[in-house]
Amino acid sequence: MNPNHSSTATSKAAAASPTDRKAGGASHRPADSSPEKASGKPSDKAAIKRVDKRTDRASPGKSASESAPPVEATALLRADHEQVDAMFVAFEAARSPAKKQQLVASICEALTVHAQVEEEIFYPAFKAALKDHALVPEAIVEHASLKALIAELEGIAPDGEMYDARVKVLSEYVKHHVKEEQDEIFPKARASKLDLLQLGNAIAARKAELATADR
Ligand SMILES: [Fe+2]
Ligand SMILES: [Fe+2]
Repeated sequence: MNPNHSSTATSKAAAASPTDRKAGGASHRPADSSPEKASGKPSDKAAIKRVDKRTDRASPGKSASESAPPVEATALLRADHEQVDAMFVAFEAARSPAKKQQLVASICEALTVHAQVEEEIFYPAFKAALKDHALVPEAIVEHASLKALIAELEGIAPDGEMYDARVKVLSEYVKHHVKEEQDEIFPKARASKLDLLQLGNAIAARKAELATADR
């Protein structure tokens, strides 16, 4: 994915993301009842700004993880969610088939990498730390459904209403999944003893690796 595009999308989304508003992001959770506040850790919102900065600062040939301070895993994953949400919003506004296809390719790539780093790094750490036997298994099942929808979309060209309908279903499914992660998994992760900075580093490094492999 074009790093410039992704940085812009993330910045816009971090400023005003419908997903975050709907998904119970830190911005509208009552301050006193926030499990994140209770954990004493800075909010994901504040950290997302650092994700934006590190992306902006990353020089050509140098990954974000090499050139910027670490960001907590939940903030990094939340920034991914917002970036994808911004691309779904752009798809709704797009009219030309070429633009739609380009956006869908970026959405599918971002979701695939995101799901992979969650499954390889974040979910196992969360499962072990929280002794979770419900949230992570459910999230993995949802990932499988998302991957099936992505595979359907990757093989076809924009051909009218059925293509748009597939993208709409993918976007609604992603919203549902993101809401569960942000409302249920992330607050528990932030209230736990998980080292979110170390996990964030591992996720950033793996994302950079996958992006390089994709080139
Ligand atoms: Fe996920
Ligand atoms: Fe996620």
